[in-house]
Amino acid sequence: MCQLNNYNDFEMQERNTTLGEFIIENQKAFQYSTGELSRIINSIRLAAKVVNYKVNKAGLVDIVGAAGEQNIQGEDQQKLDVFANETFIQTLINREIVCGIASEENDDYITVAGADNSHNNKYVVLMDPLDGSSNIDVNVSVGTIFSVFRRITPMGTPVQMEDFLQPGVNQVAAGYVIYGTSTMLVYTTGHGVNGFTLNPAIGTFYLSHPNMQYKEDGTIYSINEGNYVHFPQGVKDYLKYCQKEEGDRPYTSRYIGSLVSDFHRNMIKGGIYIYPTSSKAPKGKLRLLYECNPMAFLAEQAGGKASDGFKRIMEIQPTELHQRVSFFCGSKNMVTKAEEFMENAEK
Ligand code: AHG
Ligand code: MN
Ligand code: MN
Repeated sequence: MCQLNNYNDFEMQERNTTLGEFIIENQKAFQYSTGELSRIINSIRLAAKVVNYKVNKAGLVDIVGAAGEQNIQGEDQQKLDVFANETFIQTLINREIVCGIASEENDDYITVAGADNSHNNKYVVLMDPLDGSSNIDVNVSVGTIFSVFRRITPMGTPVQMEDFLQPGVNQVAAGYVIYGTSTMLVYTTGHGVNGFTLNPAIGTFYLSHPNMQYKEDGTIYSINEGNYVHFPQGVKDYLKYCQKEEGDRPYTSRYIGSLVSDFHRNMIKGGIYIYPTSSKAPKGKLRLLYECNPMAFLAEQAGGKASDGFKRIMEIQPTELHQRVSFFCGSKNMVTKAEEFMENAEK
């Protein structure tokens, strides 16, 4: 049995493209590429492995000590979202490949200067270092989301807020890591979506899901229905439509409460994810810049659709770093149908 497992690992190694190989191949597709974007994806790959190691040890918290306590070596334990934040930021800073970073965990953006105090890198990264962090305690999948833009202010000068407040259509890359039953890195550079699965035995990501595609129609709807009474009328009407006995309906309800995991499942199986505005959260809950924009880019690259209920997410001009937005994302026809209900309820 053991031999068979080893044999399977070996087979995977021999036959499948690794993420490292894929990044190099992909770089050739970009004319005049300086390799900076490839180095950013490489850094994210490395940080993802470090965070994966830590996330997988989260269940041992009673043994090694909870966040805020000291572990048996007398070291302070950090909360996982803080650890993930520092790991991704440090990995990007140490490699001197970005000029700025914005994160859910930091109120302001970080200006990154080179060792010689220069500002000659051209990309900014925005990220949610640990998405679905409330699920850590219960052994449910969490993720990391990232978005990459080319700066718009002149090279050689420190980054400015406007470099981060760009509409999603300007993204040059976006993706997520899902720390699940297996750990995957899924990303796009605007040429489709590819998913890589980590073989933990040898610490290598392999191309396991080439050219991921949303089905045009799905049968899953994902929303926190506990907030039903607070939803706008259009969302309430759409949910009744999802539950109606007709054709392939009623649809199946699936909600993990971890955007990355809900999105990942829906992209593979076909479905819609909704986090609307509500009387409790008038602007919605999810963040435009490092949750919705990257997911919208991935969704569109996979043949899906992302909207705020009325208009395309990626065309929204952001005004704040931590701006919230209402989010409808998934199979194209399902999102279009939900938009119809939103529009009709407005009339
Ligand atoms: P985060 O852990 O980064 O704060 O994000 C949590 C988000 C998202 O992952 C998830 O879809 C949503 O919050 C769940 O919210 P509810 O608990 O309100 O359903
Ligand atoms: Mn999040
Ligand atoms: Mn988070």
